[in-house]
Amino acid sequence: MNSSKTSFLAVRELRKHYGSIKAVDGISFAVGPCEIIGVIGPNGCGKTTLFNSILGQIEPTSGSVSFCEETITGKSPLELSRRGIGRTFQSLQVFGKLSVRDNLIMAAQEFVGSMPMRLWMRPDAGLGERADEMLELFHLQNVAHKEAGCLAYGQQKLIDVAMAFMPAPRLVLLDEPCAGINASMVEELREILQTLNRTHGGSYVVIEHNMDFIMKLCPHIICMVEGRILAEGNPESIRSNKQVLEAYLGN
Ligand SMILES: Nc1ncnc2c1ncn2[C@@H]1O[C@H](COP(=O)(O)OP(=O)(O)OP(=O)(O)O)[C@@H](O)[C@H]1O
Ligand SMILES: [Mg+2]
Repeated sequence: MNSSKTSFLAVRELRKHYGSIKAVDGISFAVGPCEIIGVIGPNGCGKTTLFNSILGQIEPTSGSVSFCEETITGKSPLELSRRGIGRTFQSLQVFGKLSVRDNLIMAAQEFVGSMPMRLWMRPDAGLGERADEMLELFHLQNVAHKEAGCLAYGQQKLIDVAMAFMPAPRLVLLDEPCAGINASMVEELREILQTLNRTHGGSYVVIEHNMDFIMKLCPHIICMVEGRILAEGNPESIRSNKQVLEAYLGN
């Protein structure tokens, strides 16, 4: 994939060094509209640091990131979310004491008008319909009014992902959405993401160690090793790449 093509997200020569640790060391890639890209690689190869550098969580050492032809390097996560870029984290970010439905509403409230407007609006900030749509799509209707913290870990992961989609983002970066969930839920999550991509549009970049999930979901996969791109291409080419097998898949 060529990072200079007209793209939705373009990452150019991004670096994040911590002293002698080159966590991200010159990564370039592009994501087109409605495209799904997978990012794989061994533990510690810099996948999360790459996301954090793109999303303003940490300041990159060098390089640039643009979204819809506009430079966004160094913009705060809040500014980026207002431009339609969402994310999930490697660890759960669910409010355990809130109901599942309220978690979803909370996730999008930032985007609903000014503070006085929000005070005059309905208690659900007008987001109830969107929350119900997401509850149905993520098969969470039966637990909509339960406390999120009381649910099984797998269901909380689904809530976490559903929350990222509440503000109708144009680009979502998902960091290990399958971590800790069982095989049937992995399959369910893949189908949900494919349905969302087909029906709502949006581009996704997905970090995952679950190869079955990533190979079925992502037509284009980037394999990172030691902060750099070792190989990229379609699932078949990645699966049969000798260097990828040696550095990662063969383990
Ligand atoms: N704040 C930091 N200070 C120093 N080194 C860091 C910091 N954050 C990350 N690193 C180092 O950067 C490298 C990349 O870490 P990162 O968390 O991005 O890897 P990862 O590919 O997401 O791994 P995993 O698959 O285990 O989640 C690692 O060597 C890590 O120890
Ligand atoms: Mg990580």
